[in-house]
Amino acid sequence: IGTELAELHSLEENFLWAEQWKADYRAHAKWEHYMQCDGSPDPAVPQEINTFMSLWQENKNEDIEFVIKKGNQVLNLIEKLNFLLLDTPPNELMEEVIVQYQESILELQSLLHQKYNEATEHLLKVSKLCILVVAPLQVATDEKEEELIGENVVDLHQFTPVGGVYFVDALKLPPQAKQIKGWTMVELLDVGLETYPYPPESEETEDATYPRVGVILRLLDSVIFFEEPMVARWDSAGKQWRTDGISDIQYKMKEKQISFEMDTFYTITLIQDAHLNMPYQSWELRPNGTDELLFTIVTAFAEVQMQIKGNQCMLSSIIMDGSEQLSHLTGKWTSPIDLTVVLKKAGVNIFPSDYSYKYVCVNKKTPLAEVTSYQQMALVASAFAFSWSKWNLASGQDQVVFKVSEHLKTDAVKDEDWSLYMFNGQRAQRLKISETSEAFSEDLAENTEFHSTLYHLIKDFASEEAIEKVKKASCLFIDAIYQLLITTRVLTYS
Ligand SMILES: *[C@@H]1O[C@H](CO)[C@@H](O)[C@H](O)[C@H]1NC(C)=O
Repeated sequence: IGTELAELHSLEENFLWAEQWKADYRAHAKWEHYMQCDGSPDPAVPQEINTFMSLWQENKNEDIEFVIKKGNQVLNLIEKLNFLLLDTPPNELMEEVIVQYQESILELQSLLHQKYNEATEHLLKVSKLCILVVAPLQVATDEKEEELIGENVVDLHQFTPVGGVYFVDALKLPPQAKQIKGWTMVELLDVGLETYPYPPESEETEDATYPRVGVILRLLDSVIFFEEPMVARWDSAGKQWRTDGISDIQYKMKEKQISFEMDTFYTITLIQDAHLNMPYQSWELRPNGTDELLFTIVTAFAEVQMQIKGNQCMLSSIIMDGSEQLSHLTGKWTSPIDLTVVLKKAGVNIFPSDYSYKYVCVNKKTPLAEVTSYQQMALVASAFAFSWSKWNLASGQDQVVFKVSEHLKTDAVKDEDWSLYMFNGQRAQRLKISETSEAFSEDLAENTEFHSTLYHLIKDFASEEAIEKVKKASCLFIDAIYQLLITTRVLTYS
């Protein structure tokens, strides 16, 4: 066992090298940014971001095209900050830095909102058209800590806004430009864009009834709604999303259209159950060439296929009801963290959070068995395929069961090529039963023995070529596989 552990530790150095590489990369990215001098601020530096914001705040009378263009730069900065929050290891991120990043995100969002308002006002002064501006803002998901959540209040642990936020408001038309003797004259008010209170606040009209506000939304093609979404409105006093005040919701999911009525003008969003793709029905990790593999997760609604190559990954396909979805997201290489962000934003959540176990029927396993399995699977996944086994539901909390097959080709794994392995984090064995056996049994497969690591167990049956491939795998590839396994948690959420 001593020798096996020493060999394992030497393989596990891959994770340390990957950490080191990523730390160097972050430092390098900072330096690159510094050298770029392209005028965009480094969102991690408070002075830079504050200067950027106050400079923009001072500029007035910008038209909507300009604001949308500059708004995209702001959205980019917000994305960068979110990425830093996710990508930096916790021990490198101090509490006050986290708070600073989160505050910058909120300030950028509020600046963007203000700019959209100003641009709308500007637009209304030039034109006689009445328009509705839909800002592509992401929701500030300051989640409520307690579960003690009141009636009609959206629990953001259980549900997630998909497709951004729609601002719907009645606006007072600002003073209009007049043409007088060749001059264009506009009366300037310093109140900015004024909303029109609805129903109007006046004592005489207290008893009068006002028509409800009807809204028709076309669902975006850039996100998926697996079921009819809920409609929620922002309650700014309570800082929460609520579902009351909205009625007569009509769904035309085929036409991608939702209509509803509101008792006044609200900021609204569409809400989807965050866990409807969990638990997964099955999963498979399959090498496909050198430092390249395919990772497939099948859920009740969709089949999601991702590809990993070196330190990058991408979405290969999402198939729902036999047709490909989200084609604008497929085929783009990115980092594992970015992929999780992009998929979640598109409504495809296959990434359990710390509290997901409250909403999903989880196949509970000890962290020792689960996490060690992901690490050791990643170490050998360059030459071995892994897949879901129904026996993982029967093996108890202390051990995980999955299918394994040496796989040096690029075709599908044949049913007869799989074997069943069981692992508790410290002891690995091959099982005698097969996937189609009648009942679960922990009996050892004939002519096999226990090992302390998955690697040594696998080695007993592996070709030299496969072991060579394992030894040559790049540390970044191994790390990327591990990251996707630990974020999808296929051994407990299947
Ligand atoms: C797997 O690799 C083969 C050979 O390189 C390639 O033709 C195929 O497209 C890959 N499969 C996927 C799904 O990317």
